[in-house]
Amino acid sequence: MRFSRVIPSDWPPRERHDTVKRNRDHAMPSRRKDARRPPKRPAPRPQKGPPAPRSGKPAAKQAATAAPALPPRVKAPTPPPEMIPAQPGRWLWTCRAGFEAHLFEELAWADASPRMLGEVLVESAERPVEPPVFARTGIRVLASLPSAQTLDLTAEAVASRIVSVLTDGPLVLQAFTPDSPAGNRLADDADALLEAVRTRLPADRMLEETWRAREAGATLVELCVAPGGVIVGEVPAREALSLSPGGRQRMRRPTDSPSRAAMKLEEALVNLPYEPGRGEVCVDLGAAPGGWTQRLVARGARVIAVDPAKLMPELARQPRVEHVQESAFAYTPEEPVDWLCCDMAWRPLEVAQLLAKWGRRGWATHLVANIKLPMKDKNPLLLRVRHILTEEGGWQGLTMRQLYHDRDEVTVTAHRGL
Ligand SMILES: C[S@@+](CC[C@H](N)C(=O)[O-])C[C@H]1O[C@@H](n2cnc3c(N)ncnc32)[C@H](O)[C@@H]1O
Repeated sequence: MRFSRVIPSDWPPRERHDTVKRNRDHAMPSRRKDARRPPKRPAPRPQKGPPAPRSGKPAAKQAATAAPALPPRVKAPTPPPEMIPAQPGRWLWTCRAGFEAHLFEELAWADASPRMLGEVLVESAERPVEPPVFARTGIRVLASLPSAQTLDLTAEAVASRIVSVLTDGPLVLQAFTPDSPAGNRLADDADALLEAVRTRLPADRMLEETWRAREAGATLVELCVAPGGVIVGEVPAREALSLSPGGRQRMRRPTDSPSRAAMKLEEALVNLPYEPGRGEVCVDLGAAPGGWTQRLVARGARVIAVDPAKLMPELARQPRVEHVQESAFAYTPEEPVDWLCCDMAWRPLEVAQLLAKWGRRGWATHLVANIKLPMKDKNPLLLRVRHILTEEGGWQGLTMRQLYHDRDEVTVTAHRGL
């Protein structure tokens, strides 16, 4: 796609593509309009059970339930360098570069007839009931246009398609490029198309405050500007996996953050109806050097940081932080806590079993965990992790997603007894 604009040399990343509006004072706001966003509800209190045993003895092992049957493995085709046109009515999914085959296999396992459209772009016939773990976002395709047309012709065609299909209700218009080197070079083209389409849509239907899109019942309209063409798609904001263009939910790293890991927690919490708050107790397994702990403390929570490694000294001195310098596998909470957070660099199945133990014993109400996936075969392992957490751990409302800030890892959220 070329709209005769100069390609900047500073890509990636650039703030102006980050249109999600956020404002929580603890949450690294990225836009001024965020200041009007209301705070989230506090999380419901946990239903405290009897105090946990303090002996520190290992938990009695529950008999593991039968592992889920593994569907036949699916070999994905290599993504073509130029995007194949999408088919209107089907779904377009974006993912992290290099993860197309995992996303493709997930969609195949869900009987959604995937097609590899290009780098980081996979299409499917259906939207699976369970959102694909490796999808950053998904939109229903309205139109697919070749790149040969001028900007004006493309914008005209896109705008008329949007108003003919989406006849009423507020619209949030966004543009993104595939998150690949070739895609990112089209960032200026995406900006130009966004503005050209915006001026052709009815102004009174355009919602600028993206963060209000869900409560306003808006439709998210996305323009995917890719090498080889433009795809236009839509999804009701309430059903969207992400309110960020292409699911690229950029978070700003606080200047005093000891690690980039903090952004993973922030991104995970954006998608939850609740967040840790004042007076709540969080256990942070694998806490060092303290990025997650720091964000939890910033929200007013008290944190028990469990990690044999050292915490950042300023954090270790914080009165609301208790550092338990031992393995998470040896740690037992004195009483049930509100949030179990876990970013341990450890084997995924063993981490899942530990989190399942916490669930079975009712030691925490909410769970946010980052599961490391350095292995090649990720989907079979994720089936087992999901099974362990839900069937053996009793965690409910499980979400499992590779977030924008996740690399070879996925983030899980869940709760118990709400
Ligand atoms: C990715 S780092 C965590 C970063 C942290 N969330 C932050 O925001 O700064 C992984 C941590 O897991 C810890 N870890 C590895 N095995 C552990 C275990 N058995 N128990 C507790 N922590 C462990 C490591 O010491 C390391 O500090």
